[in-house]
Amino acid sequence: MCGIIGYTGTQEASPFLLAGLKRLEYRGYDSAGIGVLNKEINIVRAQGPICELEKTLVKNTPDGSCGIAHTRWATHGVPSEANAHPHRDCSGDIAIIHNGIIENHLVLRRALTLRGHVFKSQTDSEVISHLLEETIADTDSLQDAFEQLLGQLTGAYGIVAMIKSSPGTLFVARMGSPIVLGRRDGDRFVCSDATAMADWVDDVIYLDDGERALLQPNNEPIIWTKESENISKQHHTISWDTSVASKKRYAHFMLKEMMEQPKVVEDTMRGRLIAQKGIAHFGGLEDVRERLREIDRLIIVACGTAYYAGCVGEYMLEHYAGIPVEVELASEFRYRHPVINRHTAVLAITQSGETADTLAAIREAKTQGALTLGIVNVPGSTIARETDAGIYTRAGSEIGVASTKAFITQVTALAMLTLFFGRDRNLEETEAIKIAKELELIPDKIESILKLRPQIKALADKYQWMQNAFFLGRTYQAPIAYEGALKLKEISLIHAEGYSAGELKHGPLALIDERFPSIVICPRDEVYEKTLSNIAEIKARKGPVIAITDIGNTDIVELVDDVIHIPSTHEMLSPLLTAIPTQLFAYEMSLLQGYDPDKPRNLAKSVTVE
Ligand code: G6P
Repeated sequence: MCGIIGYTGTQEASPFLLAGLKRLEYRGYDSAGIGVLNKEINIVRAQGPICELEKTLVKNTPDGSCGIAHTRWATHGVPSEANAHPHRDCSGDIAIIHNGIIENHLVLRRALTLRGHVFKSQTDSEVISHLLEETIADTDSLQDAFEQLLGQLTGAYGIVAMIKSSPGTLFVARMGSPIVLGRRDGDRFVCSDATAMADWVDDVIYLDDGERALLQPNNEPIIWTKESENISKQHHTISWDTSVASKKRYAHFMLKEMMEQPKVVEDTMRGRLIAQKGIAHFGGLEDVRERLREIDRLIIVACGTAYYAGCVGEYMLEHYAGIPVEVELASEFRYRHPVINRHTAVLAITQSGETADTLAAIREAKTQGALTLGIVNVPGSTIARETDAGIYTRAGSEIGVASTKAFITQVTALAMLTLFFGRDRNLEETEAIKIAKELELIPDKIESILKLRPQIKALADKYQWMQNAFFLGRTYQAPIAYEGALKLKEISLIHAEGYSAGELKHGPLALIDERFPSIVICPRDEVYEKTLSNIAEIKARKGPVIAITDIGNTDIVELVDDVIHIPSTHEMLSPLLTAIPTQLFAYEMSLLQGYDPDKPRNLAKSVTVE
């Protein structure tokens, strides 16, 4: 959510800034800007995606070796050039970029306006540059002035500031929004996301909340806390596969990421699953193994797609590991005064590891004495660092805003976690071996479903008139129905609702007619016959039905309008397969509706505000 990058060093800043923004674009794409200090601060901004900024820069690239850049996801103020960052003060000698929300901005803005400051944007962020203008005027040291500025802000921020009187210096602060520092030779970088600067740095430092830094070429960063204590922090070397940040031969990141799913499921299992014994090991859980044996309740907290992965996990863990599980929307958990104790484990599921709601939920759980765990994709992310123990999903960079491969790896990790907990509790060895051996076959089965793309494209063509859809399923398929509906609505802007198929008759059935299709996920499982009854209820009201079921299920063909046949698997693992056609359907529908599936309207990946 809002991408920020800064560079100070021996080379031209603009090329780094522009390339960095392109890699950060999934964090926001309503406007963007760069500012470079070279005697004066020159700023270029544009409304729209980064390519619009790039067009403007072709005519006017600011020179200089120190600069900052920002790609915006609007919170306060419409998407426009004026609201794009960087923001200046009145003199034009200060420029700032900001990710987060300054909660007391209205009070600050009112006071600053009364003192004569003139605001040029509607953003909350602009108060930062004007406040800094005042604190600099009142203080001898710029570092103290920066500190005094931060003391007046309430809310969440990742801030980078550039001041004309201190060429080559970047002032950085983190409170609630991620900030990573990077270095190579004399060059210094700051970014909201380590992967965006991966090619250019040898190692990184993760700032924690309340930490500030001063970056200058050739020097170690000066880092201090909000209590004004100077600290030194560890440099982390991370091996990145930077090729994952490019689309390769694919038209979209989403398509590439869907196609990577067989491989990333293998990566998630590698070295952890011992199928012959029906067990799973997690290096990241070893330290808390004893404590995990004492856990009598697991609460999963997550948002969006990760929340639906958690819902699948609830079915798996209760059914096969016998552990009581609740799944909570992270944004609700924190504010509803949950009852937790030291026998409760709270598990965050998150691709980015930075989602503000999920992070807040984990912090709340910690203060109440719970053991905190993470299923996280991005190594070194805040949630990965703040949880007591956890599992990395190893999906690699996910750039498409609509999560696909991260979801599949989250569900894979949950399946293995079920074996992990189950074997310590009441899961029979024979059943565990059956599950584990089936899990090993999942990558090949996903591969075969991905080959159905032409058939699914034809289906999207056939139904491209639809303006509404239900996604329906029972037990393990209910969360896939919710997730399928989310995918369709976010990237094709078609209204879709996910329901447990059994719930339809309690209200939503009223909407069914010949213009309201339902996608029914109905592998031949324990509740198959019941789902067939729900299909009959829809057909009796002339509702078109697309069924997703097992290869070999020919009986259903007569009952529904269209069928997608996919391989069978163990019931517990079926969501790993049934989710794939729903992803492909949403993708194809998005293209038919004329949208860019990688950049859904109004959305951003990595939501770092509450
Ligand atoms: C945003 C993204 C979703 C994602 C959710 C949770 O809303 O658009 O795709 O599922 O955040 O993100 P996380 O990084 O915590 O998994």
